[in-house]
Amino acid sequence: MDNVRTENKDGVLIITIDRPKVLNALNAQTVAEIGEAFEAARDDDAVKCVIVTGAGEKAFVAGADINELALMTPISGKLVAEKGQRVFRNIERFPKPVIAAVNGFALGGGCELALACHIRIASEKAQLGLPEVTLGIIPGYGGTQRMARLLGKGKALELILTGDRIKADEAERIGLVNKVVPAEELMNAAETMARTIATRGPLAVRAAIEAVMSGSEMPFDEGQTLEATLFGLLASTADMKEGMGAFLERRTADFKGK
Ligand code: COA
Repeated sequence: MDNVRTENKDGVLIITIDRPKVLNALNAQTVAEIGEAFEAARDDDAVKCVIVTGAGEKAFVAGADINELALMTPISGKLVAEKGQRVFRNIERFPKPVIAAVNGFALGGGCELALACHIRIASEKAQLGLPEVTLGIIPGYGGTQRMARLLGKGKALELILTGDRIKADEAERIGLVNKVVPAEELMNAAETMARTIATRGPLAVRAAIEAVMSGSEMPFDEGQTLEATLFGLLASTADMKEGMGAFLERRTADFKGK
């Protein structure tokens, strides 16, 4: 891959979008490479959690690549949006936890990428926004849908219609990011959270992601049915016996993901 680097740090896969000269803007190749990186990680037992970040000091991802977008036709534009939507949907539905470490500008497609991740941690230098209307387009990688679901329609429309960028502390205040840390502590903070999750029962973590992500797209009662089914299913696992045994024996659980 030319534009995406991956590094497995003791079970935590760090996926770095690496085109710093254009502030890690997403051209078609980069979107495809992000998809490939996630597909390779899906069945890799050596990957417990994923962190997505951007190369360099300045940007997480400054959006879709405007050089490419400027050339789009109605048909190519639809295909580009569909491809990005597919890749980002696979991130959102990824069975292992995905944390965005937002190290700088997360604009347009970069903000949409962060929105598709399960958890967002931002550096205090980060700025987020959906500036597409300033270019005469709208977000096309699921941003109109995910931002409205995460923040509510009022706040989402304010950000989408103004195209304004907001700073990390404001993003935290409105719930667009989970927490803000000093820039130099960002990767440590993301890794610490990933490692905490990696010590929990992996099958339970997987089920929790499915319950929240699939359940939030269902009517409440269907979501609860899914929750009850997954809850019951976990009773069949060795991990449940280990977790409860460890509690009763006052020791740390050693989960095997079985
Ligand atoms: N697509 C293509 N190139 C991009 C880009 C994008 N989304 N965002 C930044 N770049 C390029 C710039 O053209 C510039 O290239 P150059 O050095 O060849 O001139 C380089 O990255 C550095 O960006 P620059 O604009 O000089 O940095 P800045 O600090 O002045 O501003 C931003 C930073 C993020 C505010 C500004 O680059 C920006 O607004 N980018 C576009 C954001 C956007 O609208 N994204 C949504 C796309 S749908």
